Amino acid sequence: MTDANFILKGNICYSRDISRFQTYEKSYIICERGISRGVFDVIPEQYKTFPLFDCGEQLIIPGFTDLHVHAPQFPFRGLGMDMELLDWLNTNTFPEEARYGDEVYARQMYGKFVNELKRGGTTRACIFATVHIPATKILMELMEESGLISYVGKVNMDRNSPDYLREESAECSAEDTRKWIEETGGRYRFTKPILTPRFTPSCTDELMRRLGELQKEYQLPVQSHLSENYQEIDWVKELCPAAAFYGDAYDMFGLFGRGPCTIMAHCVHSTEAEQKRMKENGVFIAHCPESNMNLASGVAPVKKYLAEGQRVGLGSDVAGGSTTSIFRAMSLAIQASKLRWRLKDETVNPLTAQETFYMATRGGGEFFGKVGSLETGYEFDALVIDDSAWDIPGRYTVGERVERMIYLADERCIRAKYVAGRKCSV
Ligand code: GUN
Ligand code: FE
Repeated sequence: MTDANFILKGNICYSRDISRFQTYEKSYIICERGISRGVFDVIPEQYKTFPLFDCGEQLIIPGFTDLHVHAPQFPFRGLGMDMELLDWLNTNTFPEEARYGDEVYARQMYGKFVNELKRGGTTRACIFATVHIPATKILMELMEESGLISYVGKVNMDRNSPDYLREESAECSAEDTRKWIEETGGRYRFTKPILTPRFTPSCTDELMRRLGELQKEYQLPVQSHLSENYQEIDWVKELCPAAAFYGDAYDMFGLFGRGPCTIMAHCVHSTEAEQKRMKENGVFIAHCPESNMNLASGVAPVKKYLAEGQRVGLGSDVAGGSTTSIFRAMSLAIQASKLRWRLKDETVNPLTAQETFYMATRGGGEFFGKVGSLETGYEFDALVIDDSAWDIPGRYTVGERVERMIYLADERCIRAKYVAGRKCSV
């Protein structure tokens, strides 16, 4: 895995903007030191010495970003899907996460999770671990070895959690977090720490205040959950009467965009005031359609978010979601948006394939900088996709083939994967 210079030839597609594909048939894309130098019909003179890999009829698209996934929840995917969020957390999630106090178990299960990510289309990810620091470090090591680029968060929770998973006090939680940041902040090339208060119900005001201080001191990004489920939202109103709305309970402590780059998962039931603040603060929304259906949370008004210029990417939210596949997140996002439109609110249109592809690539990639496109200047994250199992040669345009890919592809179709120009094994 070196930062190579090379050229791929194939059928290239990336998002020109939110609603349009940019496609090129049988063209050359140049990667120079991990950065795209653009797409050409003919190889420009200065790149003629770069090795050329001909991908034939295959598609070349940007890598996917999974903006929200829980690594420790990988082992129990599919279980307890007859519950809503709070019951599901207590019944399945917290007991499973408690197991990561055991480093042997953590290495075994995190190994399975990372292998699955390697095989799939994800090139970047924002990952929740658990409260346990040794296990979180194991996950960071494994992610680093994978070559994928990620943020990994040690989870903070000092209230409303079972004794076996609750940190002793706000002070202990924050000081442990500081130690973890000191140990891991500069340690890896591809793997960075991210502050991860689980959600408002799990964190006292004092812990949030201390995390806000750590954010300022270390300039770290933040990830959490927001307005996912009706009971959760009512609970936050009781727990934080001073907050104007749920998101304000993060903003009060400097954990909601503005300076820090922040991802809030779900935003299914965000009020207008909350949406306005997210927009003002540049908060990223991780839309997790499968999780929102499995936990019967609802369906976020994603088309509205995109139209209003919110920053939106896709998340698998394993184990609320049953799969790490961003192919599935894309097709389910479209399908969920249609049911929402038909059954709930005909003023918010369904998502198109183009919009959904945008979220999976550029929308989420933006959290990592110039990522998620193959345009000149973007980091070279790319997938080579073999759609020969269902494509009818000569019948469809490149754009139509990408539309079909959203529904028909899975990780078996990925022939090569590049992360910032490095070829990773799949
Ligand atoms: N809210 C707080 N914790 C969680 C979690 O683990 N999964 C989901 N989907 N929502 C949460
Ligand atoms: Fe989640």
